[in-house]
Amino acid sequence: MKTAVIIGVGPKLGLGAQLCERFAKEGLHVFVAGRTPAQIEAAADSIRSAGGQATAIAADATSEADVKALFAAAGDQVDLAIYNAGNNTPGRIIDMEADYFEQSWRVCCFGGFLFGREALRLMTPQGGGTLLFTGASASLRGRARFGAFNSSKGALRNLAQAMAKEYGPHGVHVGHVVVDGPIGGDKIIQGFPEYADKLGEAGMISIDGIVDGFVYLYRQPPRAWTFEIDVRTALEKW
Ligand SMILES: NC(=O)c1ccc[n+]([C@@H]2O[C@H](COP(=O)([O-])OP(=O)(O)OC[C@H]3O[C@@H](n4cnc5c(N)ncnc54)[C@H](OP(=O)(O)O)[C@@H]3O)[C@@H](O)[C@H]2O)c1
Repeated sequence: MKTAVIIGVGPKLGLGAQLCERFAKEGLHVFVAGRTPAQIEAAADSIRSAGGQATAIAADATSEADVKALFAAAGDQVDLAIYNAGNNTPGRIIDMEADYFEQSWRVCCFGGFLFGREALRLMTPQGGGTLLFTGASASLRGRARFGAFNSSKGALRNLAQAMAKEYGPHGVHVGHVVVDGPIGGDKIIQGFPEYADKLGEAGMISIDGIVDGFVYLYRQPPRAWTFEIDVRTALEKW
């Protein structure tokens, strides 16, 4: 059975949990990783009750020991690895504490290095695999009041591109998905209900649509690889 490791899994109606569900339906045993045991256990339970295979592993993406233990638990063969961890970190530069900036970078960039490195250490000798990263509008441009987030997501994108060029010849397909706008999931609908009302359903990106993008990248044959796709609603001003 093929194996996937997905880190950055939160509520059921969130990108991380839905990536886990879809790749389990695609027939992979999914190692569901995140910081909150109740959330990752719920995601793994939901997969198992639908007949799929899943194992929940508590891991903080910014901890080298946790990321190493996660891949050790997943076994010798990992076919798909997805780095989905990421927090939006708004704030004006002149008001920003140094620690806040650093924590943003740790989750949105450094964790991607730790996770990508461990995935590549497994995939390179096995001769292939797929390593995907979740990006945001912030991956492509700086924006006032989002300097911490823009800089860390932009760095993650460049890191992913370096990995793609360094390990493509070893058979590892590295890809990056730019989620360009608010996702129609729990983070926005539950966390910012007034904002969600203002956007309406048509103004929030469909999680299923984003997951389709990841599946598209995963299925690509080595003679026709895409590094990056972007996904936005028809209403997005970009
Ligand atoms: N939500 C949006 O509108 C939006 C828009 C564009 C891009 N994105 C990107 O999409 C991805 C998923 O975002 P989402 O909002 O839909 O959330 P989600 O996929 O539902 O959940 C992601 C989960 O990652 C976990 N996480 C955060 N830091 C972590 C860490 N250090 N180690 C392990 N897990 C960690 C968080 O759970 P815990 O707090 O329980 O650990 C969070 O719930 C992120 O990369 C985000 O930047 C989101």
